[in-house]
Amino acid sequence: MTQRRIVVTGASSGIGWETSLLLAEPGVGLVLAARRRDRLEELAELCRARGVDWVEACECDLTDLESVRRLGDRVGETSGGELCLVNNAGNAVLKPFLEMTPEQIENQIQVNFVGPAWVTHVLLPHVLASQGQIVNVLSVAATMPLMGATAYGAAKAGSHLMARSLALEVRKRGVRITNIHPGATDTPIWEGQDWRPATDSMLPVAAVAEAIRDALCSPRDRALDEIVLMPPGGLG
Ligand SMILES: NC(=O)c1ccc[n+]([C@@H]2O[C@H](COP(=O)([O-])OP(=O)(O)OC[C@H]3O[C@@H](n4cnc5c(N)ncnc54)[C@H](OP(=O)(O)O)[C@@H]3O)[C@@H](O)[C@H]2O)c1
Repeated sequence: MTQRRIVVTGASSGIGWETSLLLAEPGVGLVLAARRRDRLEELAELCRARGVDWVEACECDLTDLESVRRLGDRVGETSGGELCLVNNAGNAVLKPFLEMTPEQIENQIQVNFVGPAWVTHVLLPHVLASQGQIVNVLSVAATMPLMGATAYGAAKAGSHLMARSLALEVRKRGVRITNIHPGATDTPIWEGQDWRPATDSMLPVAAVAEAIRDALCSPRDRALDEIVLMPPGGLG
């Protein structure tokens, strides 16, 4: 019997991929969301091999409201235990503000704030009905200014405050919301950036996945509102 349904956005790469594999075990049903279907299908096979009860690969584009609504519809058709959302999908354009195009600024706000807010909005009724949980993968850039992270940081800060405000509405109804703020993590998000930290100064992707798992699996007598996860050497 499925005890927990978990939706992972941005499952096709990096933190979302690693988290999906870590969470794939008997008793769990997984909904894997991202734009790249081939990657989701590959991941779904790996999750099945780990004994997950069921797994659905769901194409979803955070810039397209209809696509997000379809994700909500798919999740609404599932059954079994609490519904947990790992709101992880995002991207980063890290460069001086005047070197960004207006379209890039808009995209940063869309993919890192509006899209995740839409996902929360369509899934929240299911989370509430099942007294589930939400884990938002944000960033240290949500809570402090970082060079080159103007639009990215603003979008993550917006997601951060939205989630904390939403928690005021839902926590007394049994829903916990955790915001995880990782520092630099070794994932493909750094490919093609003007600047990239040294690999050995970044968090391993498994560290962030484990923090997400720990938040989801923490006892019900506590709420992990915020987790700041830094490389031991700091931001460099
Ligand atoms: N890596 C770091 O240093 C770091 C640090 C702090 C926070 N974070 C945050 O961690 C989260 C995961 O990032 P990552 O490092 O794992 O990067 P990643 O490997 O590039 O993965 C990003 C994921 O987001 C999905 N995505 C991007 N644009 C999308 C869109 N328009 N619609 C739907 N899905 C979209 C991608 O899937 P598709 O391309 O298949 O759609 C991919 O699965 C992000 O929110 C990021 O801001 C990362």
